[in-house]
Amino acid sequence: MASITIRNLDGSIKEKLRLRAAAHGRSMEEEVRLVLGELGNAVSIETSATSTTIHAPGALSGRRILLIIGAGIAAYKCLDLIRRLRERGAQVRPVLTKAAEEFVTPLAVGALAADKVFTELFSREDEHDVGHIRLSREADLIVVAPATADLMAKMATGLANDLASAILLATDKRVLIAPAMNPRMWNHPATRRNRAVLQKDGIRFVGPNKGEMAESGESGDGRMAEPLEIVGAIEKLLDRRPKPLAGKTIVMTSGPTHEPIDPVRYIANRSSGKQGHAIAAALARLGATVRLVSGPVTIPDPEDVAVIHVSTAREMRDAVEQLLPADAAIMVAAVADWRTANEAGEKIKKKPGEKAPALQMIENPDILAGVGHSKSRPRLVVGFAAETQDLLANAKRKLDKKGADWIVANDVSHATGVMGGDRNAVRIVTRSGVEEWPDMSKEEVAERLAAKIAAALQTVEV
Ligand SMILES: Cc1cc2nc3c(=O)[nH]c(=O)nc-3n(C[C@H](O)[C@H](O)[C@H](O)COP(=O)(O)O)c2cc1C
Repeated sequence: MASITIRNLDGSIKEKLRLRAAAHGRSMEEEVRLVLGELGNAVSIETSATSTTIHAPGALSGRRILLIIGAGIAAYKCLDLIRRLRERGAQVRPVLTKAAEEFVTPLAVGALAADKVFTELFSREDEHDVGHIRLSREADLIVVAPATADLMAKMATGLANDLASAILLATDKRVLIAPAMNPRMWNHPATRRNRAVLQKDGIRFVGPNKGEMAESGESGDGRMAEPLEIVGAIEKLLDRRPKPLAGKTIVMTSGPTHEPIDPVRYIANRSSGKQGHAIAAALARLGATVRLVSGPVTIPDPEDVAVIHVSTAREMRDAVEQLLPADAAIMVAAVADWRTANEAGEKIKKKPGEKAPALQMIENPDILAGVGHSKSRPRLVVGFAAETQDLLANAKRKLDKKGADWIVANDVSHATGVMGGDRNAVRIVTRSGVEEWPDMSKEEVAERLAAKIAAALQTVEV
């Protein structure tokens, strides 16, 4: 259960809550209960003489986390991590390495976890039923925080000479590690090799971050992720929401393309990739295997999505062709319609008295039409139409010309601020009509479109 004690809320939040409650003619407790109720939580209220506490079931309610604490300075943050996990309803069973006992005491860890702390592999008490196997079996997820360079090396080589490493070798549960170490340790070739092996073995990482090192006054890569970041990564891994797109493969494009004029100049457009990347992430959250071909963008790759980075329309077309067949293709990229006919091998020089060079353009491949009319056409093909005039007429024309099932049309006139911005107002044009969606954040458009795609792929015909 997570608890909110109104008395402990920040002054400004309390004031806003008071005003909101007064405006609705409700008490502050009733207001909080309603807000939490809207989020889908059944809440209970506990009132004492001095405070009112509102309990809501935690996001990790009932989930069992085996927390292996390694011997790094960051071990102190685990005390907070345990608290945060328990606040969200998780059961935390702690395992301390022998060396970690130098950094945090089993007493403090056990008191916060409200559970026994396990430290010994050769424990007469716990190993009568092969305790290290039981500990793993009884967990939904194993978290190693801090994951020391030493623990990572043991995991990568399969050593099992203490309780922590024996559990990690004997488990078939998912493992999340939060590395923490000096930047020189993190960047050492041995740790780099171990990281690569662990990633290949399917071990999940959270952090490390860049920042100050507690012990040395140094800074760089190697600072353990903050407890709430680790909680976020755990929540993601233990997400119980339905995955209607599990088992489905979706090919996507996003971002602009760059069409070279010479080695230093290119023709581009204002697409930022924000909308396409948000859709890729939303589809991945619904369980799809998303393969994204991205043009040059400055935003990070979406989480849990395999990304191929390309530059030109021709490279994008080749990458998409390689990724077919798939269950759906969602083509969001703003692909340049034309490229220069003769890309100069050397930088075009300005010569005194000469006229500006005239660029001769030729047509680029039409990637959406290629997919829509392909022999390995996905069941659902969705294209985007960025227009500045005759939005609907152009989008409807595209449906047939490109062999698409839906066209997501948006007005990208300068005044709308859509290109590069954070909001979008789209219309979904299908053969059966036009759906007009209100102005929303690009994330909201992505969530809604992903849900529509999931529904379409669950029906026999689209
Ligand atoms: C003061 C001090 C701080 C340390 N901090 C770290 C650290 O942050 N990360 C790390 O990988 N090792 C650190 N070490 C080294 C580990 O404690 C050492 O490798 C230990 O054997 C790891 O044991 P474990 O992996 O079984 O927990 C530190 C050592 C000392 C003495």
